[in-house]
Amino acid sequence: MRGFAAHPAMRVSGSMAVPGDKSISHRALMLSGIAEGVSEVNGFLASEDCLASLAAMRALGVRIERPSEDRVVIHGVGMRGLQGAGGPLDMGNAGTAMRLFTGLLSAQQFDSQLIGDASLMQRPMERVAKPLREMGADVRTRNGTPPVDIGGSRSLHGIDYRMPIASAQVKSAILLAALYASEPTTITAPAASRDHSERMLKSCGVKLISDGLRITVHPPQRLSSQNITVPGDFSSAAFFIVAGLLAAPPQGLLIQNVGLNPTRTGLLEILRRMGGQIEILNARECGAEPVADLRISASRLHGVRVSKSLVSLAIDELPVLFIAAACAQGETWVSGAEELRVKESDRIAAMSAGLTALGVAHTALPDGMRIEGRELGSAFTSGEIDSFGDHRIAMAFAIASLRAAGAIEIRDVANVATSFPGFVPLAQSVGLAIRESIA
Ligand code: S3P
Repeated sequence: MRGFAAHPAMRVSGSMAVPGDKSISHRALMLSGIAEGVSEVNGFLASEDCLASLAAMRALGVRIERPSEDRVVIHGVGMRGLQGAGGPLDMGNAGTAMRLFTGLLSAQQFDSQLIGDASLMQRPMERVAKPLREMGADVRTRNGTPPVDIGGSRSLHGIDYRMPIASAQVKSAILLAALYASEPTTITAPAASRDHSERMLKSCGVKLISDGLRITVHPPQRLSSQNITVPGDFSSAAFFIVAGLLAAPPQGLLIQNVGLNPTRTGLLEILRRMGGQIEILNARECGAEPVADLRISASRLHGVRVSKSLVSLAIDELPVLFIAAACAQGETWVSGAEELRVKESDRIAAMSAGLTALGVAHTALPDGMRIEGRELGSAFTSGEIDSFGDHRIAMAFAIASLRAAGAIEIRDVANVATSFPGFVPLAQSVGLAIRESIA
């Protein structure tokens, strides 16, 4: 099994850029595949999750070229041009792919089956199946989890759906199905979640009206192709934002070309409230998405209370926030984050196990975590961590090594490639003492 050996490093400095955004890369493949004409995507994230989406689109009859690692050219087949895959579509570890494809495929003329790896086969799918069935789709799960069986040839109708959870995956699955419905569909969310689907659909010419937490999509005749430049993934940058803050002063880190969509950047607000010095430089638009460079200065952090309103804007960054909290003076308390329990692992349980192994005083809550931080000296002991096969747990504890008294060994890290290929060499290039090990 592959692992990381991470040693305390005093220096984190320099300039870097992280790979392309995972959420945008998935959506670029799907929407370009059903658009009319050729779309070129630059900055595509060539991670295992996005490559699962790419393979699925190819299996559905879309010609996709890859002139280079991060450049894809998609020959759209139009809204009615997808063809049955003739076998199960394997989504690997990618929850986003499985949920969005469930929406897209529920509107097609052929049957489909979606499967995934051991972790994905345990994840809840009724959250998308239920609203899609309300639209007239034939979507079946096995006791709420995959395989997801989708019967084709249904006519879908528009719905007015009130989402019980703030989930961009659920919202996007409904939006994809709604493109094919006989009437407009309205979705009302309990809180904001990432809006990449809405932005990209508008760029494809779809009429979509947003009014606070309510969006209405009008079924289009066609989607236009477009060239998409994918910004750096804020969720990948998050590990290095925290690394830059935890470095010994007066060092700092420049992270270039980071997507700063406001529905993704809750972590910036939380870290700034903790005393983190993060400057936004060169703010610009990259197609439909805001982008900037971030200058991170080593900072002294203090604990804060993070309430539910910020949680959905920082959901994937909470594991690394817990690492920052362990290095902050006083208590940090995150609540309203019960969704963490159904991610690639139960992230509350996985982080709690790791924090215990590294001697951090904390309480795991049903919906979050209370962490008693230690701002001066080593916040973590040395120790062994199980990532539970979850990329973000593995990378979060790799960052913890900056403030550890000794080596941190992290087991089961192959999944880092699902979202962040090249994490180790990039981390090394800015000073972290991490290397891969095989146990
Ligand atoms: C994602 C939405 C989020 C996030 C996931 C990516 C997306 O999930 O955790 O990593 O691309 O739509 P939820 O919609 O379940 O919150």
